[in-house]
Amino acid sequence: MFKRFLFLTLMMLATCICEIAYASGIMISGAMDVETEYMINALQNRQEHRLGVWRFVTGEYQGCPMIISVTSVSQANAAASTALGIEKFQPIAIINQGTAGAHALEIHPFDIVIGTSACDFGAYKTDSKGNSTFRGVKVYDESSGDFIRVVDFQPDSQLLEIARKIAPTYKFGNVVEGKICTSGAWNKQKSRIKYFHKNFDTMCEEMETATVAQICYDYKIPFIGIRVISNNELTNEDFNPDTGEKCQQFALDVAKAYYESRNQ
Ligand code: 5AD
Repeated sequence: MFKRFLFLTLMMLATCICEIAYASGIMISGAMDVETEYMINALQNRQEHRLGVWRFVTGEYQGCPMIISVTSVSQANAAASTALGIEKFQPIAIINQGTAGAHALEIHPFDIVIGTSACDFGAYKTDSKGNSTFRGVKVYDESSGDFIRVVDFQPDSQLLEIARKIAPTYKFGNVVEGKICTSGAWNKQKSRIKYFHKNFDTMCEEMETATVAQICYDYKIPFIGIRVISNNELTNEDFNPDTGEKCQQFALDVAKAYYESRNQ
């Protein structure tokens, strides 16, 4: 009886210690295996978790506690897994990263986009002639106690500064800054991509970043989106899955530098 009690107490203690360790970690999310496997393999003392239907892997990257969140594709998956991950692991910051399609002629597969804003570009209203206006999404505003509209989510200034410092070390393409645009769509029509770029200054499109930014806004968690160009429909460059690994390395470098800056 006593042995059983001791065993259970030790198990509970071990769980608590693990959870305290995650609490100061950085969560990096990605939708697909090509966007997360490299980071997972780079962790030491890996531990698997499942919250709801979503996979998380905790561990240390070069001494820094990290939580890799495998969101799966789409905005609903990104939102639900991010909220669950925040509740469980209480990360000090979140980086959403992965592949994206270019909205500019001059960016190509393997180039990195540091998100100076993230926007849900499926949240638009057209007039009767078909001209669109971005309307934003609703986030919780503590001062009014109500939900308000935000069109462009800004990155945390310290994460942005660190990403800019890491940029010159990236060897696989150029690093640019711009607006990352999220929706459930994959646009291949050149005229449509050009319309968004010209009228809304979009740099690239994908399916998760602005959603993760939205949840981070609600929870007041420092956030940045970082995407690698995997395809450019304007220049007929098809999706290249090898780009995913390069973005993960970049995100790990940013996360590590951020963690170290907070723990000096
Ligand atoms: N349009 C939309 N999503 C894209 N992705 C990569 N390129 C594009 C693109 N051109 C990413 C999304 C999603 C997965 C299908 O690939 O973020 O997770």
